[in-house]
Parts: sequence; C-alpha cells; structure tokens
Amino acid sequence: MDYSKHQEYFETAYRTGSDIWTHLPMKDRGKLLMEQLPKDSFILDVGSGRGLFAKQLVEAGYRVIGIDFEKNIVKKTNEDVKHWGFEGKLKFVEGDALDIPFTDNSFDGVCDFGLMENLYEEDWNQYASEVSRVLKPGGFYLNTSLSRETQNFFEFYPKGSLNGEFQKYDMHYHFFKKDEMKNIFNHELNIVEQNIEFVGKPDEVALLETLFQKK
Ligand SMILES: C[S@@+](CC[C@H](N)C(=O)[O-])C[C@H]1O[C@@H](n2cnc3c(N)ncnc32)[C@H](O)[C@@H]1O
Repeated sequence: MDYSKHQEYFETAYRTGSDIWTHLPMKDRGKLLMEQLPKDSFILDVGSGRGLFAKQLVEAGYRVIGIDFEKNIVKKTNEDVKHWGFEGKLKFVEGDALDIPFTDNSFDGVCDFGLMENLYEEDWNQYASEVSRVLKPGGFYLNTSLSRETQNFFEFYPKGSLNGEFQKYDMHYHFFKKDEMKNIFNHELNIVEQNIEFVGKPDEVALLETLFQKK
C-alpha cells in the first residue's frame, strides 16, 4: 500500500504541533516491557515520533534506537539527543516499519505505540514478520494500538462497527480486537499479557496493550 498521504499527514502534524497522540495521558506507558528487560538492553522503538518515550527508556537505563518514516522529525529528534546529552545511548533513524533497516536478531526489545493502527490489513503480515525478524529469540515486543472497545473516535463508533476500519483526513485507522492482534503475530511470537486501558475523555478512547515474546 502507498503510505505517502500518511507521511504528509505526520509531517504536517509535527510541523504545526497538532500531534495530539504525543501527549496521551497513558498510565505506566511501557511498564510491561521494562519489567521484562534488564537495564542496558537494546530496544527499537518503531514509529518513534517526537522520541519522548525513547528518551524515557534511556533515562531508565536502556540503549535505544527509534525509527520513523517522517524525515523531519527524525532530524529534529537527533538534535534533541545532543541537548539531552544521550549521544551513544539514543539515536533516531529514518526508516519504514515494513522494511526495518536492521539485521536479524538485533534487539532485546521492540515497541510500537500507535503505528500499527494506521497500517492496512494487507500489510499486517509483512509488519509482523519484520518486527519478529529484528527481535532476538526470547526478546519482547510491546504493541499499543487503538482498541475495538473505543466508544467514540471523531464520531466513529468502533465498538459497534462491523470491522473497526475508519478513514479520515486521508488517514486510515484500524481498531483491534484482542484475538485479532494475537493472531497477526501468532506465527512467531507468543502472547505474554494483554490489557485494555481507557484514555482521553472519560472512557471514550481505549488502547489495547499486548506484550509478546519471540519463540
Ligand atoms: C501516532 S504516531 C506515534 C508516535 C510515537 N510512537 C508516540 O507514541 O508519540 C505514529 C508514528 O509512526 C510513524 N509511522 C507511521 N507509519 C510508519 C511506517 N510505515 N514506518 C515508519 N514510521 C511510521 C509516524 O510518522 C508517526 O511518527
């Protein structure tokens, strides 16, 4: 699928500061992954955006690489790394989640906050095999995506919808069910834990958090 419209959307959002997802009030973001990985583990943040979660991981003692296909935010976050004093521990790289620019078995952990929900179904398998490929055997993957339990998202009602598919401003969204998420990665990753957390206006948006381990 061609994601150039998505790329334009993200470029505009970061340039104008309308990237509302960056500041989602998510309780214990990444806790499930950090509980599994010893300090100094090497983590890949796929779709790293403004890099604030990657920064948090470095503050907690991890070494981190973030990839994002929006090149301006990658440039900006690499400048931030210098100001944060995290050179050698944190780096951002321009790259596509469907063709991750790293060799097999490179990372102890991989995380995705809000990238996979924008992929079309035809790309889910490619994405799952890329995430699994770069993860070391026994490594952990934390996926946080929009949940089908969401009540209302820009006047779309995922919970009552036929298939959780939604399109707005040239952006595609998918709202995942627990089993759907499990089945996409089932071939190479075992599920460890799955939770749903409500964020935003009281109980309107739900996030599905799934921790996997590579077989
Ligand atoms: C909703 S934002 C989330 C950003 C960040 N993870 C956070 O929680 O603030 C999704 C991010 O994924 C990036 N992205 C979307 N599709 C991508 C792809 N196919 N490859 C790489 N990055 C992608 C976007 O540029 C954007 O920065």
